[in-house]
Amino acid sequence: MPKNASELQQALINAATIAMKNAYAPYSQFQVGAAVLAEDGKIYSGCNVENAAYPIGSCAEAGAISAMINGCQTKITAIAVAGVGDKLCTPCGGCRQRIREFAEPTAPVFICGPDGLRHSTTLAELLPMSFGPDNLS
Ligand code: THU
Repeated sequence: MPKNASELQQALINAATIAMKNAYAPYSQFQVGAAVLAEDGKIYSGCNVENAAYPIGSCAEAGAISAMINGCQTKITAIAVAGVGDKLCTPCGGCRQRIREFAEPTAPVFICGPDGLRHSTTLAELLPMSFGPDNLS
């Protein structure tokens, strides 16, 4: 059965929260999950994966985007990021740009914690005056 907007939002948040619990973060203990809603209406998720050689760890958003690309989708219509801790787990600078590659500035971004949705924003607010694929055309 097709989902309405608020059911989709909740499903996106749930997927990010489940991914957060699957994170491999033995060094920072900072588990992050991300879920993207793609144009096909499906949700693709990922978690952060750390490494003993610290700099080569990868962010949750990168994992979710990789899953989306593997699903043959290239447009993000909304994204949820869930992180542990008391502070808002906003996407890091690099991930804002990674998201921009596949999302319009108007795309909703839901920032979540283990307790659920904490803050709703947009990619434009996180990455103003962004440089995206259109800049190269
Ligand atoms: N992390 C993410 O997965 N996404 C972000 O946007 C911010 C940071 C991860 C990377 C690292 O494994 C841990 O959080 C601490 O920085």
